[in-house]
Amino acid sequence: MTPNNRPIGVFDSGLGGLTAMATLIERLPGEDICYLGDTGRVPYGVRSRATIERYTRQDMAFLMELDVKAIVVACGTVSAVALEQIRGEYTIPIYGVLEPAVDAALARTKTENIGIIGTEATISSGAYERLLRAARPDVRLTSVACPLFVPLVENGRVEPGDVVIETIVAEYLAPIKAAGVDTLILGCTHYPLLEAVIGAYLGADTALISSGRAAAERVAADLAAQGMLAARETGSCRYFVTDSVTGFEKLASLFLRRDVSGKVAQVSLESL
Ligand code: DGL
Repeated sequence: MTPNNRPIGVFDSGLGGLTAMATLIERLPGEDICYLGDTGRVPYGVRSRATIERYTRQDMAFLMELDVKAIVVACGTVSAVALEQIRGEYTIPIYGVLEPAVDAALARTKTENIGIIGTEATISSGAYERLLRAARPDVRLTSVACPLFVPLVENGRVEPGDVVIETIVAEYLAPIKAAGVDTLILGCTHYPLLEAVIGAYLGADTALISSGRAAAERVAADLAAQGMLAARETGSCRYFVTDSVTGFEKLASLFLRRDVSGKVAQVSLESL
């Protein structure tokens, strides 16, 4: 099979997609990866379907201009609300986070009692519930929207001991804890950045499924199976944001545990 040295494109409304990016870098060290964070318009999850679709088309158009060979929609909201309508408009593979997260949760649960948390748009779309019930009709599900998580993560409020995030986690996740789920889908890619706080609140018996990580694992396996990987040992990563570079550089370096300074550029999506 002919190797494919074109980059992989990844996008999210902000920092959350870095949870998928981190796994992609680890699994596919030879790939060039371009990450777009629409930080000027985050959060997406409180917006209408029409607006989310418009933003998604602009994000995809930007990545297509970079001649990417595949796109990872590292955003639960876009995957739940806009992906099905838009996927058919492209000839390259487009990967969302829903199916990999659902498969990982079903593989992990022993009690068939699963929780789902996500943005307002993701939870009200019912997309996770539909996929879970189609695969396992008797599964017991508890879904909760957590609209304040994304802005808090974007502001770096993720550490255990931060009273603001701990209070909000306890309030949002009370129904999840009461339902006694054994597996919780972190249906928004920002949420694994809160894993320590969420894990401390729910206890070690609840498995946390990162939708971004699950999607990245699937992408890595799928691109390899299709012979679409690059023929080099070490690839490079570039980052694009629609708001200030400085804040993103600092938080992204922290979240990815690698220095991204000098690799981030500010871009505009308005004309796309
Ligand atoms: N990371 C996005 C998601 O997975 C956050 C959406 C938002 O911007 O509200 O849903």
